[in-house]
Amino acid sequence: MKEIIFQILKKAGITLKEEELEKLLEIPPSSELGDYSFPCFILSKKEKKAPDKIAEHLAQKIKLPIEIEKVENKGPYLNFFVNKKILAEKVIGINANFGKLPLGKNKKIVIDFSAPNVGKPMHIGHIRSTILGDSLMRIYNFLGYNSIGVNYLGDIGLHLGKLIVAYELWLDKDALKKNPVQELLRLYVKFCAKEKSKITEGVEEEFQDNEWTNRAKEKLKLLELGDKKTEKIWHDIRKSSEKGFNKVYEMLNVDFTETVGQSEFSEHGKKIITNALMNKIAKSEKDGAIYVEVDGQKKFILRSNQTASYITYDIGAAVERNKKYNFEKMIYVTDFRQKDHFDKLFKILTLLGYDFSDKLIHLGFGTIKFGNEIIATRKGDIILLEDVLNKTIEKAEKEIKKRKTKGDAEKVGVGAVKYIVLKSSPSADVQFSWEQALNFEGDSGPYIQYSYARASSIIRKAGKFNKSKINFDNLNSHEINLVKKISSFPEIVQKAEESLNPSLIANYSFELAQLFNEFYHACPVIGDESEAFRLRLVDAFRTTLKNSLYLLGIEVMEEM
Ligand code: ARG
Repeated sequence: MKEIIFQILKKAGITLKEEELEKLLEIPPSSELGDYSFPCFILSKKEKKAPDKIAEHLAQKIKLPIEIEKVENKGPYLNFFVNKKILAEKVIGINANFGKLPLGKNKKIVIDFSAPNVGKPMHIGHIRSTILGDSLMRIYNFLGYNSIGVNYLGDIGLHLGKLIVAYELWLDKDALKKNPVQELLRLYVKFCAKEKSKITEGVEEEFQDNEWTNRAKEKLKLLELGDKKTEKIWHDIRKSSEKGFNKVYEMLNVDFTETVGQSEFSEHGKKIITNALMNKIAKSEKDGAIYVEVDGQKKFILRSNQTASYITYDIGAAVERNKKYNFEKMIYVTDFRQKDHFDKLFKILTLLGYDFSDKLIHLGFGTIKFGNEIIATRKGDIILLEDVLNKTIEKAEKEIKKRKTKGDAEKVGVGAVKYIVLKSSPSADVQFSWEQALNFEGDSGPYIQYSYARASSIIRKAGKFNKSKINFDNLNSHEINLVKKISSFPEIVQKAEESLNPSLIANYSFELAQLFNEFYHACPVIGDESEAFRLRLVDAFRTTLKNSLYLLGIEVMEEM
């Protein structure tokens, strides 16, 4: 619909670009003011006329296609009224591909997400990256792109040095077999407790000088040197912890195109840095540490003992991925606290002579807050993702029993977590509460899933579509609202893609479900004289909601 209005405005001689029109076009607060409204203030300067006059003039001059019923000027606004008959006809004709567009043909989008650290359990912060990244992949694929999901495991770094020390000292083999995540966490926590008393406050971890941290650094060095015994332990830790991660990915139904350890890019990174040193782009400190100057400050890219650091690996990985995929865009989905790291990374790549920095995006997200919830899942001061999921599923099960409804507790629980995470814009914090996540009557995953099941039940009961001729002349306001909302789905998906913001789709899903429920309460379907139309409308709603939830990674149920 918007496209049609843009065309009308262009034909009327308005020379603004489509993006600008897109930003300007409003949805009026009430239907008396039309379905879309174009404010004419912006034209006033160029035409040297009052905006009211411009609106008046345009309203007279504009020629309307059949999709638009009428256009009216109201003050400085030009109000468009969509032809509801034609819109309703279109909406009931949609199919399962509704919303898909071939925008990204042959274009690759790399999405670096989830990326937990080996040896540590996935904490609640990783949930946001995992759920957001998965949703972005779905959105890009839906729009015809080829999205490549990379799980960049933090399989190297001081925390692994620590774990190797702890593994040698305190490992309980049976416990590792039974519950790898828990045993590794126990080892890590025990190490940290020992180390804690020796730590010098205010000194960066890298520069800590005490017996425990030094032992961890030693192990890390041994690992880099390829020491067989250390390597074996490292492999074991990595394998065990991947088992734990995979359990969570299965629960969340999240897939990656590739899972790759950060450590694999050590050599690539170092080679690039050595070249930069030769070309005098990078410089060496007296102690051997290598840095580049970014924004007038030294940024170290290789440690004094010539071991790689977080940024060394990322330099190597970015260059390799560009070679491998020749991507249109690469999006890193992490906590906003890594903003500085990625800002510097992108600048350093440019300094090093790579020309793809402008294709790199850091999508930083806010924190998940648990407020005053009592969390029985606290272990070693972190909230474990697996525990949150299990607890939500458990609570969903109880709720389903209490309401004596059907429904798969796992789908409801996982959907509830995904929805509460995705309904906030990435940049905003998420306030997690079980009460809200599982509120079947509120702005929640279960509420939306329930609306879907309700629609399915109507279709099931009807058995087959009523073939009587549909009369589009007397649509009521509930039907019109639902028709309009359904028809805006493709626009929402595109906007979500452009702004890397699945919350637009989450909020859309909720609003759509709400309008459906209003319709459901006001308009009988089966046996009504409008049955033929209403059944098709219910079915179009189902298709649209299913697609919309699919993009969030939330599963629907036919019965609930
Ligand atoms: N492993 C890191 C963490 O848990 C995130 C890695 C993000 N990706 C990257 N290419 N640096 O914080």
